[in-house]
Amino acid sequence: MSTTFQLDTATSRANPTPAPMKRLTIPAIRQRKKDGVTAQPVVMLTAYTARQAQLLDAHCDLLLVGDSLGQVIYGLPSSVPVTLDMMAAHGAAVVRGSYHAAVVVDMPFGAYEASPVQAFESASRLLKETGCAAVKLEGGEAMAETVAFLTARGIPVMGHVGLTPQAVNVLGGYNARGRSDAEAAKIVGDARALSDAGAFAIVIEGVVEPIAIAITQAVPCPTIGIGASAQCDGQVLVTEDMLGMFERVPRFVKIYDNIAETISNAAARYAGEVRDRSFPGIEQTYQPK
Ligand code: KIV
Repeated sequence: MSTTFQLDTATSRANPTPAPMKRLTIPAIRQRKKDGVTAQPVVMLTAYTARQAQLLDAHCDLLLVGDSLGQVIYGLPSSVPVTLDMMAAHGAAVVRGSYHAAVVVDMPFGAYEASPVQAFESASRLLKETGCAAVKLEGGEAMAETVAFLTARGIPVMGHVGLTPQAVNVLGGYNARGRSDAEAAKIVGDARALSDAGAFAIVIEGVVEPIAIAITQAVPCPTIGIGASAQCDGQVLVTEDMLGMFERVPRFVKIYDNIAETISNAAARYAGEVRDRSFPGIEQTYQPK
């Protein structure tokens, strides 16, 4: 069933019909995995805007305001230049546009690595200004102390191991990680350290499949794969990638639609009508298909 929205002019909030389910909590997501088994896989997609969140919300358990917005929304070359201000603005929009999924906001590069105190200041700002339920940060063992610090102070943390795009300048690119035994053992150790520190879930990105399976078996919290393994406890994709917004996407992305073609065709039709003066008068406006 499709959801429609009515604007409440008193609050400027668009209220969905039918009324959505209650918003999922972080403990509910964490408890999806019991005794190593996740009967109901965790569904996560990225969202950066209120309207996108409205459309994805009913289908997802988690909406991730990923720092991938640097490339997807701002045309930046990587996620490194993304700022806390950007994450706060887009996080607030996604929370306003969602009612059911728990919203997780990425901590951008430079906003948390220096110390647990720096991380607490950034994360608490994101929670206060956006209303999100949790933050995500990249890195393994080196971030375990920070994860424990935040969790003990009321901030749920999602970990992110394997290919960590904020470290692109150290990694030298976006290739799959864990091809040597030593690197594979390090990534599994990173995930264990984050889990022991209290992470409620861990994204595993861009690793060879046996590593994702080993982590999923080793940690009690849900693992969420992206270019990792179908055997993770859940999956995440960048929404614009799976909608076919870009010509080039990572090899592991399944493309479910061709939104780039739809937009380009609509713009071409509009441009043609303006140029040949067949653009309709106000009495003949388009109805959505
Ligand atoms: O920034 C992002 O979108 C992410 C996902 C790809 C996991 O971190």
